[in-house]
Amino acid sequence: MTAAKRNILVTNALPYANGPLHLGHMVGYIQADIWVRLQRMQGQHCTYICGSDSHGTPIMIQAEKLGMTPDALVADMQQRHETDFNDFLISFDEYYTTHSPENQQLVETLYERHQAAGNISKHTIQQAYDPVKNMFLPDRYIKGECPKCGAKDQYGDNCEVCSAAYTPAELKNPYSTLSGTPPIEKESEHYFFDLPRFEAFLKTWTKHGHLQTEVANKLGEWFESGLKPWDISRDAPYFGFKIPGTDEKYFYVWLDAPVGYMAAFKHLCEQRKDLNFDDYWKADSNTELYHFIGKDIVYFHALFWPAVLHGAGFRTPSAIFANGFLTIDGQKMSKSRGTFIKARTFLDFCNPEYLRYYFAAKLSDGTDDLDLNFDDFTQRVNADLIGKYINIASRTSPFIHKFGEGKLAKTITEPALYEHFMKTGDDIAEKFNQIDDSQAIRQIMGLADLANQYIDEKKPWTLAKDPSKHDEVVAICSTALNLFRWLTLYLKPVLPKTAEGVERFLNISPLLWADKDKPLVNHRIHEYQPLMTRIDPNQITALKAAAIADIEASTVK
Ligand code: MSP
Ligand code: ZN
Repeated sequence: MTAAKRNILVTNALPYANGPLHLGHMVGYIQADIWVRLQRMQGQHCTYICGSDSHGTPIMIQAEKLGMTPDALVADMQQRHETDFNDFLISFDEYYTTHSPENQQLVETLYERHQAAGNISKHTIQQAYDPVKNMFLPDRYIKGECPKCGAKDQYGDNCEVCSAAYTPAELKNPYSTLSGTPPIEKESEHYFFDLPRFEAFLKTWTKHGHLQTEVANKLGEWFESGLKPWDISRDAPYFGFKIPGTDEKYFYVWLDAPVGYMAAFKHLCEQRKDLNFDDYWKADSNTELYHFIGKDIVYFHALFWPAVLHGAGFRTPSAIFANGFLTIDGQKMSKSRGTFIKARTFLDFCNPEYLRYYFAAKLSDGTDDLDLNFDDFTQRVNADLIGKYINIASRTSPFIHKFGEGKLAKTITEPALYEHFMKTGDDIAEKFNQIDDSQAIRQIMGLADLANQYIDEKKPWTLAKDPSKHDEVVAICSTALNLFRWLTLYLKPVLPKTAEGVERFLNISPLLWADKDKPLVNHRIHEYQPLMTRIDPNQITALKAAAIADIEASTVK
């Protein structure tokens, strides 16, 4: 009997459409894509969506700087992000945008339901205002002197010179980075979502296996310091959706951003007969919903979002997976340190599967940060993927053509080894399922070591010199290629393109997880064609130089 197919919807954080993707972004998308590909290989019905987060002040300001409309900027970025994701082999079913009619309609529905339930209130607040630009200023547009050490041009949260932490109001001689003038305080009426009303619901929800332990603990701290009403409105000028019934109030970008998941899915439902919006989003849905996000946006996804959904009569997420932050060669990604690498620049110099492999080898189920150390990256890819994995095929397949007419042996000669490779697949799947990718990779590479040991012990190249041993050589190499097929199957969520090349070479249909349970015998294969090449350290030098050139070009502008 086969188990019923699970219906799974996976989302990735919607990247802001105000700039290009960088390697830090790629961590969470690669992690989610590996998970999604595993589900699909296991026969689950798994839909994977993403899109541009298109609203908010930074996008409005960036568009103005570039002399374009926000719509045009967003359309351009959406296109570029989608191309980058494609080239990194991220297998989205849909890449949409929050600036869409579906999203507007859904946000309004949610808002109206919350309003009807009494979850929205209005309060007048004081806010910094730029009297020249005639707009309210988010904190990131205010700089001034550090209240502690007096360093100039510091942002309103902490000082880069003396590391003091403070609030924007404490900055001395503050100025708007948009006009250079000192901000004034101005009153405005804002709309608030009554988060404290959902405290009991959230306390239960966050303790029921929907979150990683560290994330649940972090939420515990927020409960302790007390939930506060959430400001969900912004004043004009703002690039976003107007709040119904107001003249110049807009929904804060973080209200409509996660609703963008629903909107992207809705848009996909219009094109796909196998998907129904309500089946996935109604309160008693029996489908699964997973959000993959970076750890910096846990607050929005694990507190506001479940409350916003629940209070409006929709389902809540099955789980949220948060990833840690990427550092490069031990440094925070930053333009001033020269460690800011665009996804596109990486693609210009390096095989994306190498980064997928490296991230997988480092990602755990926790939210620890991870480092892309380029020496380690080069060494690891060359040693593992070329040295241990691909070489198995390149050094054994020629014998199959030389002595076996291109056909793998009829019988299995190493049952214990086969059995071990087959069984380990269950553990590997389990690790990938728990997003413990580094443990899955460790197990796969353990198998690769065994395969190489086997070949080294049998020495087919020595036996090949004795014509009476040619059948034995074919048997050994058939075993080796079977082990190679298992490794390919297990690596396929991480290396989908290489797996396709191997499927062509082995002359087999696309590998599914269930294929692990039977070996490949009495089967004709093709001639081996190189599937991967070593990383040349010069490539990395060129990549780093290009990244620095990008930074210089962008700061000159
Ligand atoms: N627009 C919001 C998400 C809205 S989801 C409804 C956003 N966008 S972002 O462009 O800033 O980030 C996109 C994703 O990349 C987020 O999950 C974020 O955590 C992640 N990362 C951004 N920089 C990163 C690193 N340096 N390292 C790892 N992940 C990083 O947040
Ligand atoms: Zn200071």
